[in-house]
Amino acid sequence: MGDTDEDAATPVKLIVAVDGPSGSGKSSASRGVASALDLEYLDTGATYRALTWWLLSHGIDTTDPAAVAAHVREPLIEVGTDPRAPWTSVDGVDVSTAIRGREVTGAVSAVARVPEVRAHLIAMQRDIIADSAGIVAEGRDIGTVVAPDAPVKVFLTADLAARASRRAEQANWSADATRSDQDRRDRMDAPQSGMAADAVEIDSTGLSLDQVVDIIVRMAKRVPHPRRNS
Ligand code: DC
Repeated sequence: MGDTDEDAATPVKLIVAVDGPSGSGKSSASRGVASALDLEYLDTGATYRALTWWLLSHGIDTTDPAAVAAHVREPLIEVGTDPRAPWTSVDGVDVSTAIRGREVTGAVSAVARVPEVRAHLIAMQRDIIADSAGIVAEGRDIGTVVAPDAPVKVFLTADLAARASRRAEQANWSADATRSDQDRRDRMDAPQSGMAADAVEIDSTGLSLDQVVDIIVRMAKRVPHPRRNS
């Protein structure tokens, strides 16, 4: 389809869904795309991490699904959607750094599996997406569950070694520790993760961040969108 046809089409709200496993480069790519296209940015993983942080700081056993389910609605979780300065807070406390720590990272997969957690946080994520003028949302189930009507869907992958070394860099862990943790998390997160049938898979292993951003931006620019920059 040529540009003329696209411009004549009815503008739709631009939602870019970016799913994929941890360490695939989702966050950097999603923030880059949102900045390039003047869109908001939602890190859905941060909402699961924020709830986990609250449970841990209240001494609740994060491996007990019933205990987790009983407290799902208690914390007030808020996120900032500026891709250049995203933040996460719980009950007014900025937890942006704390939720990336080892304790939360080790506990979050079990929390994210609890159905009551998913129902509550997915409703919150959908509200944020609905309130935005256009957004890049990243996670595991954006294209399949949270925003199945998103006009742009990407499934970002990378080989295990590349993912482990990215994670090790981010978290300042050894590559070996990260790799075994990554393995464990992949298995735990698998039931909640999925590639939508209409998603485009991008393997970022041999690509720079700029190249990944560029591919997604090009996909997004094919969508007729009222806030598109060019
Ligand atoms: O992307 P991340 O590592 O910050 O995700 C944290 C956890 O939350 C991880 O266990 C996967 C889970 N998650 C999920 O189940 N669904 C999402 N949409 C996003 C994250």
